[in-house]
Amino acid sequence: MPAAKKPGNAKPKKFNGEVYYPAEDVLARANLRDWEKTARRADKDFVGFWEQEATQLEWFKPWKKTLDDGKAPFYKWFVGGKLNIVHNCIERHLETPRKNKLALIWESEDGKQDRSFSFHALNREVSRMASIIHALGVKKGDRVTIYMGRIPEIIFAMLACAKIGAVHSVVFGGFSVPALRGRVQDSESKLVITCDGGYQNGKLIELKRITDEAVAQCPGVENVLVVRRTGHAVPFQPGRDHWYHEMLESPVAKDRFPTQPMDAEDPLFILYTSGSTGRPKAILHTHGGYMVGTYTTLKYVFDIKDEDRYWCAADPGWITGHSYIVYGPLLNGATSFLYEGGPTFPNPGRWWQLIERYGITILYTAPTAVRGLMRFGEDWPEQYDLSSLRLLGSVGEPINPEAWRWYYRVIGKGKTPIMDTWWQTETGMFMITPTPVVPLKPGSGTRPFFGQRAEILDETGKPVKDGDEGYLVLTRPWPSMLRTIYGDAELYKRQYWSKYPGKYMTGDSARRDEDGYYWIIGRVDDVINVSGHRLGTAEIESALITHPAVAESAAIGLPHEVKGQAVHCFVLLKPEHSASEQLAEELRQHVATVIGGIARPEEVAFVDKLPKTRSGKIMRRVLKARAQGLPEGDLSTLED
Ligand code: WTA
Repeated sequence: MPAAKKPGNAKPKKFNGEVYYPAEDVLARANLRDWEKTARRADKDFVGFWEQEATQLEWFKPWKKTLDDGKAPFYKWFVGGKLNIVHNCIERHLETPRKNKLALIWESEDGKQDRSFSFHALNREVSRMASIIHALGVKKGDRVTIYMGRIPEIIFAMLACAKIGAVHSVVFGGFSVPALRGRVQDSESKLVITCDGGYQNGKLIELKRITDEAVAQCPGVENVLVVRRTGHAVPFQPGRDHWYHEMLESPVAKDRFPTQPMDAEDPLFILYTSGSTGRPKAILHTHGGYMVGTYTTLKYVFDIKDEDRYWCAADPGWITGHSYIVYGPLLNGATSFLYEGGPTFPNPGRWWQLIERYGITILYTAPTAVRGLMRFGEDWPEQYDLSSLRLLGSVGEPINPEAWRWYYRVIGKGKTPIMDTWWQTETGMFMITPTPVVPLKPGSGTRPFFGQRAEILDETGKPVKDGDEGYLVLTRPWPSMLRTIYGDAELYKRQYWSKYPGKYMTGDSARRDEDGYYWIIGRVDDVINVSGHRLGTAEIESALITHPAVAESAAIGLPHEVKGQAVHCFVLLKPEHSASEQLAEELRQHVATVIGGIARPEEVAFVDKLPKTRSGKIMRRVLKARAQGLPEGDLSTLED
């Protein structure tokens, strides 16, 4: 596309490096044309910016104070306001012509089924699910664990919880028994919603059996609600287990059900994510701020219009799915597409076929998927008509410029800007991101979103020079920020706000270039980013140690062509065990069984010794350098 490198922007500003300026037609149709002006205005008065956005949504009672920072870092937003996010996702649209517009389109992995729901129909489905979980004793404030595949009911379940004021905790359907059990126990869920099974690459995933095993040790779980997806035989425990389709036929199911008014600061959901210490942490988000943050960011960044067909190809079980499959699109009244399967089954043309079939206009996915599909060459996408696409998105890890260019050229045909959105489970919304009118540089998320400020600091808290690497921190509160770690407010303070008091520590390192563009380098803590999924080294090491042969272990992330990073483990065996390829395979499988398939190590190496500091901490940095043949750096703290 010839317009790509030519400055088509009204702004005369020249940017350095490989730059893709927005084409005239992109500028002409953008909801928000003047990025610089909006950014200046929001920077001057970020509270005012968010306040103005919040007034575009419906509140049962207006808030008294937009931002309360009196007890920082326990920030509060829209204090005193009453609302329910579901009212804004669904009911708000029923009074408008959007009532009969499609909210959700779904296709099964085998391509034999599709289902679609207007906003009107979605309201009915969510009301029915809400009335059913209410009948099962779920009340405002109760936690509900959702462990399902990618089918419409996972969305109904999340919205049904929010509608009645319950707190959902979605556990990704790829997690194993112990991972699910730990999350159900930690959240003290009363109800688990699951499916009989799910499909993944043609294989049946035994969601119900996994749930049974996990829940067997969760005495707090009173009921299990089971959605029938596969129809294969599964064990059923009368009294505790309930078929969703049977309850739909019963008198408790109601097509209309009241939406609970919530305080802006009432919890909406918790979502577990890995950090540098120990077990996964339950990140807590609230009704008011999270709603305003996801609504606003999706509107500006993906430039949502009523005629769009938007597809975020993540899983609802991750934050990307929460914010940008479920809440953000519905808040904007968008038509969203949900696909049950993955990108390469039954063949690597599947996604491109879906784009043609449904006329997808916006595709939002992860670099690992782009790299994975790129391997199969251009012939696959070329068999399909991808001309409906007008915007592309990337999330989860830095996108390599090579993958960026392929995505832009082969999928976007050189006419679709790529929104590289940097954010986290904790931030709830895009934090460093372009909008379609911003000049792009492959591999950079460009600049902070309206009203945000980011700094790059050295160890002592001083800003580094442009071009130098440092710790990425955020210096202003934002509405959809996490409020705490559920059940551990101290850890919340320590983990995010203690290194540089008053500043939010992201856990990432980054550099900023001379144009003020941010380039994320990666995690600086003990988190491994596998295909955009966060795994703590501590979780993997704790999993290994539960195997009878393992005395001690260390896990690190090493570069991987498709996954971005892959897990590599070093294992010290107990004296009576000896190393073998068979044991290595057994340990790889063991980690997958304890955590889930995404954590399966690429390699397990047996060692006699692990490099440690004199205080006994494993120096993963040294293992990493050794494995890559890089200089080992400062070894002064090594024990010998
Ligand atoms: C990484 C996912 C570079 C980063 C939304 C962050 C990214 C972690 C990008 C959060 C991006 C996410 N460019 N790195 N566009 N997006 N990351 O909580 O290291 O699963 O800290 O949230 O993913 O992962 P999480």
